Amino acid sequence: MKSFIYHQPTRLFFGRGQIKHLGKEAAKYGEKALLVYGGGSIKKNMIFDAVVRELEKYGIEYKELGEVSPNPVLQRVKEGIRLAREQKSDLVLAVGGGSVLDTAKAIAAGVFATGDVWSMFTGQEPITRALPIGTVLTIAATGSEANAHAVITYETEAKKCAIHSEMIIPRFSIMDPEYTFTVSPRQTAAGVADIMAHLFEQYFSPDPDAVVTDYLTEALLKICVEMGPQAHKEGENMKARANLMWASTLALNGLMSLGKRTDWALHKLSHELSARYDMIHGETFSILYPAWMRYVADADALNRFAHLGKVLFGEKANSSSAFIEHLETFYQSLGLPLHLSERGIGPDRFEEMASNIIDLYGLIGIFKRLDYHDIVRIFQMAL
Ligand code: NZQ
Ligand code: ZN
Repeated sequence: MKSFIYHQPTRLFFGRGQIKHLGKEAAKYGEKALLVYGGGSIKKNMIFDAVVRELEKYGIEYKELGEVSPNPVLQRVKEGIRLAREQKSDLVLAVGGGSVLDTAKAIAAGVFATGDVWSMFTGQEPITRALPIGTVLTIAATGSEANAHAVITYETEAKKCAIHSEMIIPRFSIMDPEYTFTVSPRQTAAGVADIMAHLFEQYFSPDPDAVVTDYLTEALLKICVEMGPQAHKEGENMKARANLMWASTLALNGLMSLGKRTDWALHKLSHELSARYDMIHGETFSILYPAWMRYVADADALNRFAHLGKVLFGEKANSSSAFIEHLETFYQSLGLPLHLSERGIGPDRFEEMASNIIDLYGLIGIFKRLDYHDIVRIFQMAL
């Protein structure tokens, strides 16, 4: 097993009614918060009122940055930086899903940018400081509530890129599964596909010795397969919502990559699709994973596909082809797409997307190294 250092500094308040901790926790960082949220769901389901009540109880002033979109854009980050500098914010408080949390993280770091904040996404400016970040999570998907990543789209350049820094790990996150009851079936399914994608990216590694990590990853994948359909069918199923929420955090807080190398090729393909076609992040994976698995199956020296097929779907899925077929059936049962054509996407920009990936990262993937031609081929197989 490879050596590792593990540090998880986010204080998590998990469970029904945990919003009661928000005011006291936020007040630890000062008296002025920039409150970041999305397109209005938190106003309909009353989470906004609960947040404001808590802030007011502890005398915390807040400025609002709303209208953060899914596949969040740089323009909102820049507006947030302007507001945070004007307010002299002590805390950036994100209330929403990954898009809102990532915008808050980019603002928190971007406040200290010496030039354009995008230079942090291109690696030209290092992240050396960030304002403290707190979150109230409203959807189970990205793990952003307890990790070091933020993904933003530079809308006029059709580029979707990430920053990674310990500075932007949230100091605290409120995780009340009841807050996810109002997430639509479509977004619930996309969240499940994203959680599974995070687990696949880390599970499909050529390194065989991180058995603790691999078994934990299998358990979380099993949770997705069992609880995903329940939450999709019954939005207010507390058991399903709670287990999915906790699984989403554990899937991408660093734990599932300990002791091994991880792949992350498909997130790079996914970001190209979202940057150009505004695809919902999770929906890219029900399309890309079956195509990728078929393409790389010959590199599966450890027989991970067949093993995972058995773990997730039973003896009948005990080969790579049977596993992929069962996975497709599972995705379809959640209403997820299996082909790019189902989202009106044709082959015209495959070469452009592959070139962009190679320009940004060089060869990608560790399970099987992928070059430009491999990437084009995977997009073609996803048609
Ligand atoms: O904008 P509002 O009105 O809040 O509605 C949102 C949005 O339309 C809605 N929603 C969220 N909570 C809800 C709700 N609707 C009803 N009730 C609730 N309780 O759901 C829609 C999607 O929200 P979004 O924040 O976009 O979802 P998600 O959490 O899946 O985030 C996706 C973004 O995160 C990035 C993705 O690339 C994408 O941009 N990722 C971030 C990562 C990270 N920071 O670690 C890793 C991931 O791999 C991913 O790349
Ligand atoms: Zn993801």
